[in-house]
Amino acid sequence: MANIIIPPGWRIPESEATPHGVYLRRREFVRTLGLGVAALGSAACGSRFIANEEDPVEPDPPPDPTDPTQPVTPPDANAATCDDDPPRDPLHTICASPNTDLYPPERNIRYDVGSRAITDRRVTSTYNNYYEFTTTKTSVWRLTGPFRMRPWTVTFSGLCNAPGTWDVDALEARFGIEERLYRLRCVEAWSITVPWIGYPLSKLIELAEPQSSARYVAFRSFHRPEQARGQESGSLWPWPYYEGLRLDEAMNELAFVVTGAYGEPLPKQNGAPLRLALPWKYGFKSIKGILEIEFTDTIPPTFWSDYAANEYGFYSNVNPDVPHPRWSQAEERQLYATTGGEQQPTLLFNGYSEFVGDLYDPELLTYLS
Ligand code: MTE
Repeated sequence: MANIIIPPGWRIPESEATPHGVYLRRREFVRTLGLGVAALGSAACGSRFIANEEDPVEPDPPPDPTDPTQPVTPPDANAATCDDDPPRDPLHTICASPNTDLYPPERNIRYDVGSRAITDRRVTSTYNNYYEFTTTKTSVWRLTGPFRMRPWTVTFSGLCNAPGTWDVDALEARFGIEERLYRLRCVEAWSITVPWIGYPLSKLIELAEPQSSARYVAFRSFHRPEQARGQESGSLWPWPYYEGLRLDEAMNELAFVVTGAYGEPLPKQNGAPLRLALPWKYGFKSIKGILEIEFTDTIPPTFWSDYAANEYGFYSNVNPDVPHPRWSQAEERQLYATTGGEQQPTLLFNGYSEFVGDLYDPELLTYLS
């Protein structure tokens, strides 16, 4: 396996300007550094899923509260870990990042959401679709405690000249990050507006050097029943979650690899450490927890189309004129709380026609495609 990238010696800045959540979890990151490098080595020997290993490092002893030399810090801040099970709070699912100094990045104002307000962070972190954990949206975050998201690699395969495996933190440092405000329209007719953080998918694809025969890109997520209880035996879904794009869609400037949100690294329940944001497509195309990317010359199968081809197409571009067989897509509930929302008309391509309108044969927009 080529291109195994070992993370560089990380600099952990001590600045008090560090974003809140990142600061709280810095200690935990330092603790897991040694494990990260060791497990990357095992990936080179062909292990497909490498983050299941037990952390052999003893946690730091708690500070002695009677020791006058100890800094005065709230006990919770010292104890905070993104791997608490259950998580103590929906945002304690954010794990410390080695790229702390990249956060928060600047917003790219080219991507504008008009009058849509940014959805409250408490809503987007407590109302999730992530079937690997549960089908109950409000419970996903509570079940992410056992999920280990470092070390994490992404592997390129298929019709590309540079197949190989890359550490996702090294990729983030290599490409740099920006913030983009994007709308997300779920096929279930609710919507949110999120300040995602990450880099263009085109950068990742160019790194793999697709061959001229490559026409599609397939994405695969993880299968870890011991960490994601929705995948335990008895689950009816064909894990791992898998998705696909045409190569020209994947190279479109809107297609975004997400590593963070709201100024900080991404919470587990939103797909950390690596997911897609494809704002012109229904939300299920934006696959979370990506591990593998394969270049193909035939249309790749997708999780939801395989489940119900008459309900979920390969393209699944947001389209108010083509209803789901069981509900209209003409309107959406813009969430302002997990239980509330404001009805809004749905826009073709979720309002992103100027970026993606010319990618598609108009015929494709007349039926569930
Ligand atoms: N990715 C994986 N791996 N598993 C999933 O169940 N659900 C999809 C998508 N990506 C899903 C996934 C659906 S249906 C939606 S609407 C979005 O994630 C939801 O993203 P959010 O929870 O960050 O809002």
